[in-house]
Amino acid sequence: MALIDDDKKYVLNLYNRLPLEIIDAEGMYLTDVDGRKFLDFYSGIAVNILGHKHPKIMEAVKKQVDSYLHLSNYFVAPSTVELAKSLVENSFASKVFFANSGTEANEAMIKLAKKYGREKDPDKVNFVSLESGFHGRTIGGLSLTGNEKYKAQFAPVMPGVKHVPLNDLSALENAVDEQTCGIMFEVVQGEAGIRLVTEEFINKVKILAQKYDVLILIDEVQTGLFRTGKLFAYEYFDIVPDIVTLAKGLGGGLPIGAMLVSERLEEVLSPGDHGTTFGGNPVAAAAGKALLDVILENDFQEHIHRMSQLLFTELVKLQQKYPTIILEVRGLGLMIGVDVGIHAAKIKDAAFKKGVLLNVTGKSVIRLLPAFVVEEKDIQLFLDTFEEVMEELGN
Ligand SMILES: Cc1ncc(COP(=O)(O)O)c(C=O)c1O
Repeated sequence: MALIDDDKKYVLNLYNRLPLEIIDAEGMYLTDVDGRKFLDFYSGIAVNILGHKHPKIMEAVKKQVDSYLHLSNYFVAPSTVELAKSLVENSFASKVFFANSGTEANEAMIKLAKKYGREKDPDKVNFVSLESGFHGRTIGGLSLTGNEKYKAQFAPVMPGVKHVPLNDLSALENAVDEQTCGIMFEVVQGEAGIRLVTEEFINKVKILAQKYDVLILIDEVQTGLFRTGKLFAYEYFDIVPDIVTLAKGLGGGLPIGAMLVSERLEEVLSPGDHGTTFGGNPVAAAAGKALLDVILENDFQEHIHRMSQLLFTELVKLQQKYPTIILEVRGLGLMIGVDVGIHAAKIKDAAFKKGVLLNVTGKSVIRLLPAFVVEEKDIQLFLDTFEEVMEELGN
């Protein structure tokens, strides 16, 4: 495979590439150079939330491309402002900052929280986050990320971050104090294998945030935009965040990240404090606005719920049939983790050979992140393939 060979030769070897050369992608399916079709059940790692070549996104991108690609942040582009307006009108936030990726959105969140804290007390610049949380690979994002595997080789990262186990209320209580400026977490941990925070955890965060004047910082880079069945995963709980970050699906396949900020924080960062050359790129923003228009339609949300229910029901049936292989099925909406213990890599490889692309996270968890345009027939194909693989494993 000439392309794969050239990639190895010329591109830094940082990713586990699949031995595939994709020439076309449409909806839920990728087609390779030999004409083989693959069902994509993780949507470009939660990016292609409307699948590939969604007509509304393609139309918006083409229209923007015909006007201009980039102007610089000396100018306002209508698509960028429209995307911000839609995010504000549909969330707790009153203003938005645009970045280019999840980790950059989190960097903005870290900087804003630090400045907020420092203005109260020069020592109020520390953070608390979760041991199994993932917040990106820049030094700020890595610092808040708990898992040592991502950061051990890049020490020292940013100081002043305490990590506590997921849903450990007393550890959380012990970690937060007057010097904490922010508590940062994912409502459903993606990289850690689809792990959910509890209501008790959320309640404790609220109490501590109020007691110590700490900002509630929610990373919705993976969970946001209806991935969990609600526009934001925090909406499952009675909590109002101070800042939320988004990325992944936001640009419908184009790179864009966002930090959504509540009204009382609007003035914390001043001109010159933060910025980025490409942030809020007009083409990515046009795609993002088109995407929001589609997913905010009620019919569409109903479709997500129906598909989610179907997947959960059938996966639980499979779990009952293969209890020694499927240990647990967990998640929310179309963010589903199937814990298959030591079998994860084998299942992924076997499904790949049968034309279904699966993703493994947290070592033992098959992470299902289908695009929201998934139909019953796609789910059936996935389930049939999954069951075939279970059968083969069982024998
Ligand atoms: C919850 C969460 N935060 C941040 C990131 C980092 O996003 P990016 O890879 O766009 O920098 C990810 C990526 O997987 C993520 O899942």
